[in-house]
Amino acid sequence: MKISLLFFLTVLTLYVPATFAQSAGAAKLTTGKEIYEGGCSGCHGGDGKGAPQSTIGFEKPESFPDFTKCDQTTPEDNWAWKSVIRDGGPSRAFSQIMPSFSGALTSRQMDEVIGYMRGFCKEKGWARGELNLPRALGTEKAFPEDEVVITTTLNANGTPSVSNEIVHEQRFGVKNQIEVSVPVSFERPERGKWYGGVGDVGLGVKRVLFSSLGSGSIVSAQGEVILPVGNRAHGLGSGVTTFENFVAYGQLLPWKTFFQFQAGADLPVDRAKAPDTAFVRTAIGKSFNQNEGLGRMWSPMVEFLGDRDLVAGMRTNVDVMPEMQVTISKRQHIRFDVGLRIPATNTAGRQKQVMFYLLWDWQDGKLLEGWK
Ligand code: HEC
Repeated sequence: MKISLLFFLTVLTLYVPATFAQSAGAAKLTTGKEIYEGGCSGCHGGDGKGAPQSTIGFEKPESFPDFTKCDQTTPEDNWAWKSVIRDGGPSRAFSQIMPSFSGALTSRQMDEVIGYMRGFCKEKGWARGELNLPRALGTEKAFPEDEVVITTTLNANGTPSVSNEIVHEQRFGVKNQIEVSVPVSFERPERGKWYGGVGDVGLGVKRVLFSSLGSGSIVSAQGEVILPVGNRAHGLGSGVTTFENFVAYGQLLPWKTFFQFQAGADLPVDRAKAPDTAFVRTAIGKSFNQNEGLGRMWSPMVEFLGDRDLVAGMRTNVDVMPEMQVTISKRQHIRFDVGLRIPATNTAGRQKQVMFYLLWDWQDGKLLEGWK
């Protein structure tokens, strides 16, 4: 039973693209529609929803795509699809039933068929995954996400301290995302004495105002309320409810370089407890993919982080942070980023900090799924 299934899969994955290459005269197919109908619709269905179970002869994996579902397809960028088409399902830790078309289709034909498949999502307004730029440590991004991020900040000198922020982000509707953030900090003000706890919890809503793959840009706005649940006496909370509002802008530039910008303000309801603060953050970077542009992704970035209390006589804090993000799972849904945050102005009493995060895009797969 097992052997015959294995045999069947081998035949399917080696034979299907090979016979397609010869018999259908794949080289002659030029339009995306012709390529799709010649090589893909047998499994994926003429309408992109997947061919009926009775005709395909394999058991559809749980993650088998329905290309008409915009919420599932638009977050995937063309590079991810091309990697699966060129190198087969296993290139992104998907099922081996999805064959490799590297011998059957040219790079250009793959781009054509991807263009055709993009037409299966009929609903307008979904931001495309290409605009989902690598998340920076300090600058919030414009793209709405389904992810969990745990960011850790360590003082590199001065008072030892460790702070973590756990952020859960979840999309809803075409353009919106909710966000819950929970900070957890530990500090050692004197030798042998550590204390810690939960800080002020934030609840936010983000909405995409504009996105265009043509111009490579995305703009969002976020409103957030930060609740004073942290212990103020221990420096874990501000003791006052604060509204944080910001706009975020992402710009994809040629050769996978990018620019991200975020500007906003923290407005506490009682200014006697905390001042209004304005902030401007930017990240510039470039992504490099292994395996001829489709494999593991490395994204070096540098951020400039500015904030200023809106009180007469206060100076602006500017930090510079070089960092590197890397995709660690094969599916690229688990990522790691590490950077060094260096105060550049107003340096007295401000420490260098090491920051890193672990990110899980849970819409793309379970934590332990998608590694090999
Ligand atoms: C033998 C059946 C079969 C054929 C032929 C086939 N596919 Fe697939 N394809 C699959 C299966 C099964 C999956 C799902 C793999 C998984 O989720 O583990 C898949 C997944 C994909 C994905 C990944 C979608 C995602 O969720 O990221 C893309 C893109 C894709 N196929 C494109 C194509 C294109 C383009 C062709 C034709 C050139 C094609 N497939 C031909 C079976 C097939």
